[in-house]
Amino acid sequence: MSQILVISDNEILNQLYVTNLEVYLGAKVTLVDATKKGVELFKKSVPDLVITLNMINGHDSASEIHNYIVLNKYKSRLIVIGNPGKEMDSVIVVPNSYNLQNLIRSCAKELGVTAKDMAEKEMPQYYPIEQEFLSKLREVPCSVYIQMKNGNYTMVAKKGDTIGETIKQFVKEGITTLYVNSLDRLLIINMISLSIVDFLKNTEGLDTTEKSEAVKTGFNFASQSFTTSPEVTAEIVNIANACTKVMEEIVNETPSLKKLLSILNSQRDGYVYTHSILAAYVSNHIIRRVSWGGESHIEKINFVLFFHDIMLAPIYLKHPTLKYEEDLLFSDALNDKEKEVVLNHARLAAEVIVTYKRAPIGADLLIKQHHGITNGIGFAIDFKDDISPLSKIVLISEAFVEEFMKLRDQNPDYILDVKKIIEVLTEKFKKTTYKKIIETLENFPGN
Ligand SMILES: [Fe+2]
Ligand SMILES: [Fe+2]
Repeated sequence: MSQILVISDNEILNQLYVTNLEVYLGAKVTLVDATKKGVELFKKSVPDLVITLNMINGHDSASEIHNYIVLNKYKSRLIVIGNPGKEMDSVIVVPNSYNLQNLIRSCAKELGVTAKDMAEKEMPQYYPIEQEFLSKLREVPCSVYIQMKNGNYTMVAKKGDTIGETIKQFVKEGITTLYVNSLDRLLIINMISLSIVDFLKNTEGLDTTEKSEAVKTGFNFASQSFTTSPEVTAEIVNIANACTKVMEEIVNETPSLKKLLSILNSQRDGYVYTHSILAAYVSNHIIRRVSWGGESHIEKINFVLFFHDIMLAPIYLKHPTLKYEEDLLFSDALNDKEKEVVLNHARLAAEVIVTYKRAPIGADLLIKQHHGITNGIGFAIDFKDDISPLSKIVLISEAFVEEFMKLRDQNPDYILDVKKIIEVLTEKFKKTTYKKIIETLENFPGN
């Protein structure tokens, strides 16, 4: 069994790296959070492969461990995650810390593990698909299973079967999650994406509620695939692009924020989805009123709003009573790992989006900056001029929506008082560049 040493102080990545390296490569993985501890481990047993983050706690871990290996003439191969300042001999660099596929491929190559070996090791054996997505397919492209009470799986449909009626029966019995063999998961994700995109591209004749329902399905499917199977980039971008267009239609045909909220509420949608659409409504208003704003900005912002909080979707699903993002950090209901995701959600989503070839240019940057912090970690209190003008529009739109929703939480009959909300925003965002954007909201339509 190959030995891999991982040196990383990033809790979220640690979890991902260790699980995936063990599952796909069948390797024994040892994790340490400091370069020094890594060096100590060499004295006990020399690893076949070392993976280190480029910088750890302000130290140039990559050079330190590289020098150590060269000096002692160890045979261990070295993979560096990040962007090392200088070139190092026979070192493999994986620039994006979230690109697991690339990392695993590089490790497999170094350890002589073939694609076939990996496919055989692929675990878990079954991949869950919610019925609401599966029911989009007329015929299933592979066998479908349900999980029995004893934990075993039973086949309920085979390739080519129509499944609609069967699913309805299961839903009646309270079974909403079905499964496919995990080797078929890319196939099924691809088929479902095609059918969702196809539906989203043919929305004329639908009313706003139906359109919102379609975007919500796209959003839910994309967010589930994004967090469980990030390699299906093409499918996710196709859905996002199709949703972005329909979001614009929804915004244009709805007369007020209140009306839009009532459409969304009537479907009992999650907070991530609801506030993203409302923020799209507000930012659309702003873009049309800043001198430099154009159609391409609207598309870009809608794409950004579709993805910006996608990492939080599983957390909201688990804690449906929680709402505003900053409150998540202080909630006792969340464990440390979940809080870590909350703190890093802007950066994490941006790191995945940057690998998407057909995403609007710069969308990753806007996602990273959507809480006013350039590296995407945490929430700004003091809003500075070091972020892009479009990021400021996203921030102000989100703040406007949050204020509106908080007031409405207190009083369901709340009548939108734009002036009051503008006062709150002016207090929150002190710089002139932000104030200029806030001014465009003065003629924002009321109720
Ligand atoms: Fe948000
Ligand atoms: Fe956020």
